[in-house]
Amino acid sequence: MTTITLNDGNKIPAVGFGVFMIPADGPTYDAVRTALDAGYRHIDTAAAYFNEADVGRAVRDSGIPREEIFITSKLWLQDYGYEAAKKGLDTSLEKLGMDYVDLYLLHQPYGDVAGAWKALEEAKAAGKVRSIGVSNMTPKIWKEFVPQFKTLPAVNQVECNPFFQQRELRELLAKDDVKIEAYQPLGHGDSSLLSHPVIAKLAEKYGKNAGQIILRFEVQDGLIVLPKSTNPERIAGNLRIFDFELTEDEMNQMYALDTGKGSHDPEAPGVAEMLLQNYKIHD
Ligand code: A2P
Repeated sequence: MTTITLNDGNKIPAVGFGVFMIPADGPTYDAVRTALDAGYRHIDTAAAYFNEADVGRAVRDSGIPREEIFITSKLWLQDYGYEAAKKGLDTSLEKLGMDYVDLYLLHQPYGDVAGAWKALEEAKAAGKVRSIGVSNMTPKIWKEFVPQFKTLPAVNQVECNPFFQQRELRELLAKDDVKIEAYQPLGHGDSSLLSHPVIAKLAEKYGKNAGQIILRFEVQDGLIVLPKSTNPERIAGNLRIFDFELTEDEMNQMYALDTGKGSHDPEAPGVAEMLLQNYKIHD
């Protein structure tokens, strides 16, 4: 599995298995077991996905040594601020049944971000997390928060797909060697993306499906991708993207699909309130 070196020296597998919106108590467990059997060694969960316990159980039952699997989780907004963040991380570790995670992210860029980040920096020093990062930071939000941090994030996990390539953010983060993790790298199953003629043509040429072409493009372009699927064939297929290479001309055709617009706007007014209302992880 191809790995990428983060700005703190740690390595992360370029393809991770995302479990957002996969239900707990069965489906997440099955999907993670399938993914690990297929060869994934990187699983991306979050406190607000409500399925950390299933991820932990699937990892243990797989029999694969813990240190061979890269586990990411995320601190939910409800637990921001220095003291609350320390407790939030401990709760994540407890649910996962692990004594460390490989990467822990601030899931959303609102509220007492600086206090929560300080707790993450200390957790890294204490060995509870190997790397720390953020998520959903636009260039504007990045410039607002990150100058207050002592340590730079290793990653910023954001929505990214061929229709929304995040060029401005990528240029900004490249200066500090901060890697982008692409969530919803397949456009969340958007059929206008998955059936786009440019992608269909490449799929035919390489004998791959549209999802594999998109993921190949993204990884070849330096992204860490987190495709999600509950279909065993697609779970396995989404990892089979390392046996072909897009030409420069084909990469340019893919770059040209960028519309500069995504489906989430982290800068929209009221987002934090809406998230807190929709995702209550504890009382
Ligand atoms: P399914 O679970 O039936 O495979 P994203 O990761 O961008 O959020 O996209 C997830 C969506 O894309 C899911 O609906 C998933 O459906 C679908 N999907 C996953 N892999 C592929 C693929 N290789 N080709 C087409 N659709 C895919």
